[in-house]
Amino acid sequence: MLTRFLPTGRTAGQVIVITGASSGIGEATALRAAGERHHLVLVARREDVLEKVAAACLEAGAASAEVVVTDVAEDDDVAAMVATVVELHDRIDAVLHCAGVVSYGRTEDTTAEDFAQVVSINLLGAASVARHVIPVLRAQRTGDLVLVGSLLGHIAVPEMTPYVVSKWGVRALARQLRIENVDVPGVRITHVSPGSVDTPIYGKALDHGGSVNTPPPPSISPQRVARVVLDQVAPRLRGTGGEVQTAFLNHGLMAAFRLTPWAYDRLVGPLFSALSRSERQD
Ligand SMILES: NC(=O)c1ccc[n+]([C@@H]2O[C@H](COP(=O)([O-])OP(=O)(O)OC[C@H]3O[C@@H](n4cnc5c(N)ncnc54)[C@H](OP(=O)(O)O)[C@@H]3O)[C@@H](O)[C@H]2O)c1
Repeated sequence: MLTRFLPTGRTAGQVIVITGASSGIGEATALRAAGERHHLVLVARREDVLEKVAAACLEAGAASAEVVVTDVAEDDDVAAMVATVVELHDRIDAVLHCAGVVSYGRTEDTTAEDFAQVVSINLLGAASVARHVIPVLRAQRTGDLVLVGSLLGHIAVPEMTPYVVSKWGVRALARQLRIENVDVPGVRITHVSPGSVDTPIYGKALDHGGSVNTPPPPSISPQRVARVVLDQVAPRLRGTGGEVQTAFLNHGLMAAFRLTPWAYDRLVGPLFSALSRSERQD
């Protein structure tokens, strides 16, 4: 195969698996990776939407684009998806795990079912992906697992408890994986924490508060996050992996959360409601 060097230092033709590829950050990441002529495996639950993204990726230059319908909350699905990728391509260069959901509502108003659903998809889904992908990467002695967490994996906001708990868990998972794989320097684990990103996730949220939810300003585009996510698999950055924030503001909010909790805890609720939640009119 002809190796094509990209301005980023990546080479074309890598096998890249993208979960959550049917929407938002995952879709934007797939389209960006397509432009770099990689082999893409697009993963999510909605086959018809994934097929459209695959067609757009081929149009944008992807070396190939396969759709593997998978519910990341189902461990057997994830195992089958990873086996399919290895069967198709004989290797996995990178898995960019973007699948996720969100819910709103006070903790005591959230049903046990919805709490479990958010944690199953966001945290146990990430753990399943890691459990099935890491053995492949370790056997190859090289490869990237990028877990898209959230700024809310570093701080807390009211009325998002299942999401916040799941994302703190994803950050812990990434840290665990880095320690466990320190003996194979070619295997790199990165945790990317977006702040507010303008994607459909807000409109699809499970909501027990009866609100309309929107990304709190200042939000960034999914394309900007896609660039950060994809940059993590560039050879020029090859190192130990690590923690990546997608916006400078994240650092300010994390500092306020840690250093001034008495002020943070009183202000975050009213500010968050005013900036991103409004009464449903219907
Ligand atoms: N938007 C933000 O402000 C923001 C901020 C910080 C972090 N994040 C994180 O970024 C990631 C992507 O979010 P987004 O904003 O791009 O949301 P999005 O536009 O709603 O996309 C979510 C993706 O996850 C997939 N997904 C959901 N549940 C799944 C499941 N059980 N199995 C497989 N795929 C599943 C969805 O596809 P199907 O419905 O077809 O399955 C969709 O492709 C999430 O982890 C989110 O927590 C987002």
